[in-house]
Amino acid sequence: MTEDGRLERLSGMLKRRGFLLPAFEIHGGAKGLYDFGPVGGRMRSRVNQRWLDHWLQLGNVVELSCPTVTPYAVLEASGHVGEFSDFMTECGSCGEASRADTLLEPHHPNPDALKRDELQALLFQVQPPCPGCGNQAWSEVKAQNLMFNTTIGAGDSGRPGFLRPETAQGMFTSFNALHRHFRERLPFGAMQVGKGYRNEIAPRQGMIRLREFNMAELEYFIDPEAELNDDLSPWDDAPLHLISDGGNGVEITLSEACKQQLIRHPTVARFMGITRDFLVDIGIDPSRLRFRQHEQDEMAHYAVDCWDAEIEGSYGWIECVGIAHRGCYDLESHEKATGKTLRARREFDEPRTITIDAWTIDGATAGPAFKALAGAVKTAVEALPKSTSFPCEISLENGAKVVVGEEHVKPNQKTIKETGEWYIPHVIEPAFGIDRIIWHVIDHAYSELEKNGEPYTLMRLSPTIAPVDYAVFPLFEKDGMGELAWNLHQTLCKTSGLVSMYDASGSIGRRYARADEIGVPICITVDHQSLEDGTVTVRDRDTGEQHRITIDSLS
Ligand code: ATP
Ligand code: GLY
Repeated sequence: MTEDGRLERLSGMLKRRGFLLPAFEIHGGAKGLYDFGPVGGRMRSRVNQRWLDHWLQLGNVVELSCPTVTPYAVLEASGHVGEFSDFMTECGSCGEASRADTLLEPHHPNPDALKRDELQALLFQVQPPCPGCGNQAWSEVKAQNLMFNTTIGAGDSGRPGFLRPETAQGMFTSFNALHRHFRERLPFGAMQVGKGYRNEIAPRQGMIRLREFNMAELEYFIDPEAELNDDLSPWDDAPLHLISDGGNGVEITLSEACKQQLIRHPTVARFMGITRDFLVDIGIDPSRLRFRQHEQDEMAHYAVDCWDAEIEGSYGWIECVGIAHRGCYDLESHEKATGKTLRARREFDEPRTITIDAWTIDGATAGPAFKALAGAVKTAVEALPKSTSFPCEISLENGAKVVVGEEHVKPNQKTIKETGEWYIPHVIEPAFGIDRIIWHVIDHAYSELEKNGEPYTLMRLSPTIAPVDYAVFPLFEKDGMGELAWNLHQTLCKTSGLVSMYDASGSIGRRYARADEIGVPICITVDHQSLEDGTVTVRDRDTGEQHRITIDSLS
């Protein structure tokens, strides 16, 4: 079989077999919204669970579940109201909206990094054809916020809100509960799988650009001054393909990449290794995986560094995971907006004597003014922060209140002993797009073969995430073979974590073909011999090998 039309055949199969279906299709559907169908739904849950299990192995992370509906104030504080936008332009002929950077991909190595004016100039210069009608007449480029608005509550009491564009913010606003849970000891992490919503300007390429999609994110809180002891040795024999500063890319181990300062933070490097392991474990071909560092102008508003895991598939190289160093951006922003502290404390090895700017009284003016109270006023003034402005009313230890004027005080420096200090933790965040990952797992597993001169499709899905573990077939539904096969199917279904599929229609060859097409690793056939000796035929999807085993050894 040739590669021509492979993408169309694969997409057709995903729809026909119930992996992925356009949502609400009987009402005409809606761009960027898909259902995971009777086969895909299970696969999505398995990938989600696998992802959670993978990161839980860190030993200091917990799972959260935060609302998808988010008050305006939260996303204003996080910078999304002001910054979370893409640049769009509209076709002057058919009116279709497009992302300006997408239109310019054939004309620039990284248009995502261009500013509005640069995009505008290049767009008008090259006049790319409209994907809808082919004409070349573009409107001015403008920023379009990608969040879906909503109202929380009814009538006049309704408050503005959004559907969350990332799962992360709920984890930042829960920082104090997490800090308590972990007994105030960093590093620790919170993770979450759930929906994210982005009103994409031009959803396209099936599962690649959706308006509602499945995210899996980990927010890992660290002390930026703590000694780092990320062990990168597990990847010493598995160099990664890294592209930094827009270069060509190198094959390099994570340890060496850190030594050369290609990767600036060792926790980012460790998370790149863990990300690689996860992707390979669920079936991504490691030779089609690379990590690309964001250029300075390409970075999200909150990031100080970011590496994308990109996977090559039928749509070219696509970002599927972003591993960002978010610094203290988020916790600091929520502190500023709410006045609440979101901090951790670090203790010093030895108490430190520190000098701070403060106030004291000016004896020449305060003595005559406060007379017998002058000593108590001095104590109270020296406890005030340097930011105090005068005149100011202060309470003395004996309960008396006095007004202290500018003329009664002078700047002072005082030394105090501190045993520790409060600081805003930094965050390292791996953010996975589950839909894009599932698409690439399927794309890499899908094989078009020939069998007896006929086209034959085989999906070599990893058994860890295959939607069905066993397909159970009675050779014929007669002489008790149907009952025996059905009972076996029922027993397998009752085994925790297993999914079995019963199929009795058509020839046994057709049934094998249907199971192979959706990637069922093992088919079990109940035949006449099964009725006599309690054995069944077990067939391996990838080798086609068959052997007999007893039914008892299956469950
Ligand atoms: P892109 O540049 O492709 O728009 P992004 O940089 O905005 O992606 P992030 O904000 O880093 O993506 O989101 C984290 C992950 O979520 C991405 O790596 C991707 O896998 C996934 N993702 C983002 N937007 C979408 C979308 N519209 N549809 C499906 N998955 C998405
Ligand atoms: N939380 C990562 C992102 O949405 O970009």
